[in-house]
Amino acid sequence: MSSKSIPAWLEEAVFYQVYPQSFYDSNGDGIGDIPGIQLKLDYLETLGVNAVWINPCFDSPFLDAGYDVSDYYRVAPRYGTNDDLRALFAEAARRGIRILLDLVPGHTSIEHPWFQASCRHARNEYSDWFIWTDSVWAWMVPGLRAISGYAERDGCFVTNFFYHQPALNYGFAAPDPAHPWQQPVDAPGPQRVREELRRIMRFWLEMGASGFRVDMAGWLVKGDPDSRENIRLWQEMRAWLDREFPEACLVSEWFEPALAIQAGFHVDFCPTLANAALFRRPDLRGLGANPYAYSFFNPVGTGNIREFVDHYLRHYAQIKGRGHIALFSGNHDLTPRLSTGLGVEDLKLAFLFLLTMPGPPFIYYGDEIGMRTVEGLPSKEGGYQRTGVRTPMQWDRSPNAGFSTAPAERLYLPVDDRPDRPTVADQLDDPDSLLSCVRHLIALRRAHPALCASGEWSPVFAEAGRYPFVYRRSGGDENLLVAINPADRPVEVDLGQVAIQGPGQTLYGVEGAIVERQGRWVLRLPPVSGGVYRA
Ligand code: NOJ
Ligand code: CA
Repeated sequence: MSSKSIPAWLEEAVFYQVYPQSFYDSNGDGIGDIPGIQLKLDYLETLGVNAVWINPCFDSPFLDAGYDVSDYYRVAPRYGTNDDLRALFAEAARRGIRILLDLVPGHTSIEHPWFQASCRHARNEYSDWFIWTDSVWAWMVPGLRAISGYAERDGCFVTNFFYHQPALNYGFAAPDPAHPWQQPVDAPGPQRVREELRRIMRFWLEMGASGFRVDMAGWLVKGDPDSRENIRLWQEMRAWLDREFPEACLVSEWFEPALAIQAGFHVDFCPTLANAALFRRPDLRGLGANPYAYSFFNPVGTGNIREFVDHYLRHYAQIKGRGHIALFSGNHDLTPRLSTGLGVEDLKLAFLFLLTMPGPPFIYYGDEIGMRTVEGLPSKEGGYQRTGVRTPMQWDRSPNAGFSTAPAERLYLPVDDRPDRPTVADQLDDPDSLLSCVRHLIALRRAHPALCASGEWSPVFAEAGRYPFVYRRSGGDENLLVAINPADRPVEVDLGQVAIQGPGQTLYGVEGAIVERQGRWVLRLPPVSGGVYRA
């Protein structure tokens, strides 16, 4: 694996995640669309991001916001046409912005013609494209969920997520001989599905996509506890990509970087627990009790940075030089908005961290202005608790926050109706705004190779239950220290053993935080502050 190269553009990449429904509505029908994204490229350029991940924008009945695809080769009419997407790729490329699509390889919509064909009693081309037990009464399948009584075919189909998302058949790592319906990975059905997956990727890459974020990437082959067969499947895909599309990037939703990078992904997301240790601990849903009441970035200052560092280091050590771990400000799933429980100054520190760590960072639309979770909304398109982080982008103070000219009741989701809701327009020219801070930090990152994706990273001060968090980044001929104190109290630490040449120049944040005292270097930070220093 190590001989394979990572596309060079990833080094400086800063990603922006666009939930297309809610970004910008270009034609006043109440729902965001592809031309709307194109119209906002100026904004993305101003922000300084150079890569975008768009949530699924393909034909779909939208029972899971588009993660239920009914045609992999066609943009959903509500978002525009394939030509609109082609135009977006071209215009974005002209501005040095790359676009990643969301690939959902694990399951289709229940309405997909492939699945409908596989439902039929008579054997046909698609009979083995999905996972069916051999009797409608055989719905107890250990480790999987099967739906019975849906089709004329005598059997239950395996679903990956909601009932309407039948699992495509990539086979079983160790098929149970007592259940011949469990096919091996090299059976004809699973092999045809793999071939189709390559066709889908080729179709969009040839049109101008720069790669994919891959939904539930580690869950294709079933009964694969050590992920061996899923890793092999993706290694095969990566080898193919390296030959045909060496510039394309694969980002996995695996949340296990050590496995995902071995599988050939260029980037995997930071494991959920490590992320939760940083932000929004009080909101963790169902991930288990924890002795620390608050996450590290909460100003109460009772977080434990080791919960993050220990997790992160374990993965980082295994993937370094072969791929990246992506930290993210949020996403369209179960993470509440970054702003939950945090004020503007806290958020600036969160971004100082996100934008100075290794691996390409991902900014969820609206987090750069501190958009808030909207509580209490009824579920939309299978969103349930996720719905509140999917509300329309807040552009300005015009009706619907400038998202759409449709009547408010026709919007995809209501706009946050709090009078003090943040907007892009209010923050763009305010040098103290969160948006200005994020812009500044993106520019800082891109100007310093040490801060980019592969710059070396090592913790300098990261003690359980203590603040600040200090780490080193180095690369090129630079050696930088990043120091962050989210706690609402001043902190001081002795950096005595850290080899620094003089009280390093301040590149960002608190001036003169590193001082010499009796031959040792001491770092002092006021409450809720931080900085980047030459070391
Ligand atoms: C993960 C996606 O992020 C989520 O939104 C979706 O519901 C599931 N996968 C199922 O595709
Ligand atoms: Ca629209």
